[in-house]
Amino acid sequence: MLGLGRALGYAGRMSTHSRSFPAPRRGAVHEEQAPQEADREEEKRSAPRRRGGDKASPEQGADRQGPSRRSGRRVSGEPAAQAPARARTGRSRKTEQPEAAGEAHVLPRWRQERREQRREARQQEQVHLARRWPDLPRSALPREDFSVQVAARDYMQPLLEELGDRVITVRGRLVLARGTEPAAWAQNVWTEPRWIPITSIGNGARQLSALQRNWRAHIPTIGGHVRRLRLMQEQLPYVAARPLHFGTPAPSAPLGAFTLWEKDLMLASPRTTSPFADGEVQFVENREDPPGRAYLKLWEVFTLTGRTPAPGELCIDLGAAPGGWTWVLGRLGCRVFSVDKAGLAPQVAAMPGVNHCLGSGFGLEPRHVGQVDWLFSDMICYPDRLLETVREWLAADACRNVVCTLKFQARTDHETARAFAAIPGGRLLHLSCNKHELTFVKLAG
Ligand SMILES: C[S@@+](CC[C@H](N)C(=O)[O-])C[C@H]1O[C@@H](n2cnc3c(N)ncnc32)[C@H](O)[C@@H]1O
Repeated sequence: MLGLGRALGYAGRMSTHSRSFPAPRRGAVHEEQAPQEADREEEKRSAPRRRGGDKASPEQGADRQGPSRRSGRRVSGEPAAQAPARARTGRSRKTEQPEAAGEAHVLPRWRQERREQRREARQQEQVHLARRWPDLPRSALPREDFSVQVAARDYMQPLLEELGDRVITVRGRLVLARGTEPAAWAQNVWTEPRWIPITSIGNGARQLSALQRNWRAHIPTIGGHVRRLRLMQEQLPYVAARPLHFGTPAPSAPLGAFTLWEKDLMLASPRTTSPFADGEVQFVENREDPPGRAYLKLWEVFTLTGRTPAPGELCIDLGAAPGGWTWVLGRLGCRVFSVDKAGLAPQVAAMPGVNHCLGSGFGLEPRHVGQVDWLFSDMICYPDRLLETVREWLAADACRNVVCTLKFQARTDHETARAFAAIPGGRLLHLSCNKHELTFVKLAG
C-alpha cells in the first residue's frame, strides 16, 4: 500500500498503524466546517429518539429502550452513576457532561431553539405546499400509472424539483407522481398504490390483510387521522421494527405501506422500494468506537445492497477524517488506504490494516494506483468535481465498486445527480442519515 502513498506524492507524510504520523494539519475546509458539523452531530444524535416518539407503536416504544441501554445511554429515571462510563471520543465526553450534572433530559437552549425553528419551518412548508397543491376531489385522484414518493425528512424541495411535472399532488411527505420510476430524493416509493374505501378501522385492516401480511402505516407528522391509523396498525399482524444490529440482513419479505387520505379512504401499496417503514433504517448504534456518526452511511449502504467488502479487500477512502468509514472498513478486515487533509481519530489510525495519508483526494491518480476493490469518497467537494473523479477511476478501470457522497450546497445540482444516475450499473440513493446529500453506489456485477 505504500505505493499508493507514492502515487499521491505524500509518502513522507503517510501514517500507518505502526508508524506515527505527523500532527494533523487541519485543512481550512475542516476548520470552517467544525461548528456546523458539531451542530449536525447533536441533531442527528437526538433525531432517532425524537422520531421514535413521533411514530412508535407501543411495542416499538418498548423496543427502543433496549438499544438505549445497550448503547450505554442513560434513559430517563436512571441515576447518573449507573450510566456506563464512556470511552475516549470527544462525542462521548460532550454527552457525559450534562448527564453527570443530572441534566440529561434538559436540552441546551440553542438546541431547543433550533428544534422549534425546524418545527415552524416544517409547518410553514406544509402551509405553502397545501396552497400550491390544494386537495383534489375524489374524482380527480389518479387511478393508474402513478406512485407515491415519500420525501426524506426536511428534503421535500429537492424531491419536488427532481420530479418536476411528474408531480400530481402533495400531502405531508407524500408526493403523488406520474409513473413509478423512483426518485433519488424519495426515501421510499410506493410502487403499486391503490385507493381503498373503508367502512371502519377493522374493515380497513381486513382489506389490507387480504392483500398480504406485512404492512406499516405512514403516520403524517401534521394532521391526518393519526389515531385511526395507529388503531388500524394494531389490528394488523405484528411487523418487527427494532433497530438493526449491523450485519443482520435487511428483511426480505415485501413491506406494504398505507395511510388514510380521508377518514374513509385509504391509500395503500403492497409493494414499496424499501423493506423499512418510510425507508428509514435504524441501527443499534455504536456510540463508543467510531468518531462521529458518518459510519452509519456505510452500514446502511451495505445493509440495503446486501454487499459488504470482504476481509483483505483493498479500499480507498477519500475524505476519510475523522475516520468513521475507515473504522467500518477496518472492522471488516479490509486493507484501507485513507486520504484526507486532516488526520484520523487516533483509535482509527491505530487499527490494523489502516494507512492514512494527509493530502487531497483529488491528488490520487487512478492510473498510478492500480486495481482497488472499493473506492469510497465522503469528501466535501462540488458534485461535478466528484463526478469527474469517479469517471476517471472508472475509465481507468481502477476500481470494482464505488460508494460516494454527493454533497450539495444551498442549491441542489440535479444535473450532476442525473449524470451520476446515468453511469451504467450505478444507483443514487438518499440514505436515512444523508442530509442535503445523495449517495452514489456502483457495485461489481
Ligand atoms: C464529512 S467529512 C468525512 C467523514 C468521514 N467519512 C467519516 O466517516 O468520518 C468530510 C471530509 O472531507 C475532507 N476533505 C474535503 N476536501 C478534501 C479533499 N480535497 N481531499 C481530501 N479530503 C477532503 C474534509 O477534511 C473532511 O474531513
